[in-house]
Amino acid sequence: MARIQGAQAGIVGLAAAWVVAITVAANARASDAEAAKLKNPIKATPESIAAGQTVYGKYCKFCHGDDAKGDGPLAPKGTHPPNLVDAMWDHGSSNGEIFMNIKEGIGPKYDMKAMKAKMMDADMWNVINYLRSLGPKTK
Ligand code: HEC
Repeated sequence: MARIQGAQAGIVGLAAAWVVAITVAANARASDAEAAKLKNPIKATPESIAAGQTVYGKYCKFCHGDDAKGDGPLAPKGTHPPNLVDAMWDHGSSNGEIFMNIKEGIGPKYDMKAMKAKMMDADMWNVINYLRSLGPKTK
């Protein structure tokens, strides 16, 4: 009897380890889809929009332009930073996708560089609120 219980405990232990392994694998694969579902945790208050405008002026304007309509004066030669206030988003239009494009940059060329070393997450969301306040009303 004792031996059977031991075997059962072993099987339960294996099953638990297996569940953990599956969960970890699923999380790794889901990361892109998760990005698209990220919700903006910061309300588009006047304060957030103003903070976003300041950050935009500091980190984005020279490439994306004063009015965020693209092709800013100091964009590196041969790159075309897109309009960020029209309804066209080449790399995803959801808040979460835009957030990840700012945070991680856009491969494979990375003309749009990752901003995560320069900006706090909160400021990325503030910039999104700022851009949304200029652009057409979307989701
Ligand atoms: C060095 C120039 C440069 C700077 C600085 C820069 N960008 Fe970009 N950005 C680009 C370029 C070039 C692209 C187009 C990349 C591509 O399509 O491969 C781009 C693309 C993007 C996109 C994707 C647009 C789409 O149509 O999907 C977003 C969003 C964006 N930038 C936001 C920002 C924000 C916000 C900042 C400031 C925090 C910023 N960028 C700073 C050059 C820049």
